[in-house]
Amino acid sequence: MAGSSFGKNFRITTWGESHGEALGAVVDGCPAGIKLSEADLQKDLDRRKPGRTEFATPRQEADQVKILSGVFEGYTTGTPISLIIYNNNQRPYDYSEIAQYYRPGHADYTYDQKYGFRDYRGGGRSSGRETAARVGAGAIAKKLLAEFGIEINAYTYSIGNVEINPERFQKEEVSNNPVAMPDPIAAEQAVEFLRKIKDQEDSAGGVVECIVNNVPAGLGEPVFEKLDAMLGRAIFSIGAVKAVEIGSGINASKMTGWEHNDFYRYSEDQILTKESNNAGGILGGISDGFPIKLRAHIKPTPSIHKQQRTVNKAGENINIQVKGRHDPIIVPRAVIVVEAMVALTLADYLLQNTMSNIKLLKRALQAPE
Ligand SMILES: Cc1cc2nc3c(=O)[nH]c(=O)nc-3n(C[C@H](O)[C@H](O)[C@H](O)COP(=O)(O)O)c2cc1C
Repeated sequence: MAGSSFGKNFRITTWGESHGEALGAVVDGCPAGIKLSEADLQKDLDRRKPGRTEFATPRQEADQVKILSGVFEGYTTGTPISLIIYNNNQRPYDYSEIAQYYRPGHADYTYDQKYGFRDYRGGGRSSGRETAARVGAGAIAKKLLAEFGIEINAYTYSIGNVEINPERFQKEEVSNNPVAMPDPIAAEQAVEFLRKIKDQEDSAGGVVECIVNNVPAGLGEPVFEKLDAMLGRAIFSIGAVKAVEIGSGINASKMTGWEHNDFYRYSEDQILTKESNNAGGILGGISDGFPIKLRAHIKPTPSIHKQQRTVNKAGENINIQVKGRHDPIIVPRAVIVVEAMVALTLADYLLQNTMSNIKLLKRALQAPE
């Protein structure tokens, strides 16, 4: 299937289906000499894996990753890194009914229209399970970025109408509650809201916020490959994402130029600063050296147990109750997927940037300046 690769210099291809034998990724272009172990990947995969909380699908998968190539004696070799995650808890029979009808909000109808045939087991390739492979690949990109001090942190910003209060922001809280919120009070409210939604056999949506610190100025390309355009593409490639905001996002359209512009100042030691960061760290498609800030708006899980109206392949209007195991909310599990896609985008541009001007290129090739 075309469209399963992402990135130019740091390029990944993911493969595999939700209820196939395994899924994985091939990462090509990762520089040699980075210390890398399966544990580096596993810690991110553990943040995504199913069955961890009352709001994640009860499907039990260890999501144990194995690196098959591209790492020798603990370091990347510069050759393709292949990683594999076996599916151990497939229950394809849960999905046999889906073969005959189209779940509203899922990709069943469009896949059938395009290919005339589909792997209906858990949505096959369109399943959220595919994102496990990206998370593994993203962890490798994060290792590259860490060499330059670049740090990516995502968390749940809102669920339904429950938003975090920035004044109560506590980073370590993200791993302390089932909704990945950095605000313990908002997390409690979100849990209460989700329990009600779950009792109603329905689902909810929300927003993931991601902040990237220590990004050098200069990452990104002009015009068609602007950094914000590529981040948008990266985030929109995650299933269920309906909108992406950079910096002030949709609020920019309600502000005046004077309100929106980030005024520059030099500090006492002549360091350039900005009084605000409405740009979200990107101007003209190029990073400005200030934190990159983005938001991913995620729709409610389409597969719900509540009765819905749809059609079947026999040409009938029918009522359905979707079986199988599903997340009543995708947002907390998507947090690490957003981090992975941001890492992959930045790793790609970091490599690209070594040839953006003659000084950098000479430095990269150790040529006399
Ligand atoms: C981490 C993650 C988990 C997901 N879990 C489910 C799920 O359990 N049930 C479901 O119907 N959709 C789930 N989805 C969403 C579907 O994959 C997605 O809605 C579907 O492919 C249709 O694509 P679209 O929403 O981008 O149009 C999940 C998505 C992600 C990123």
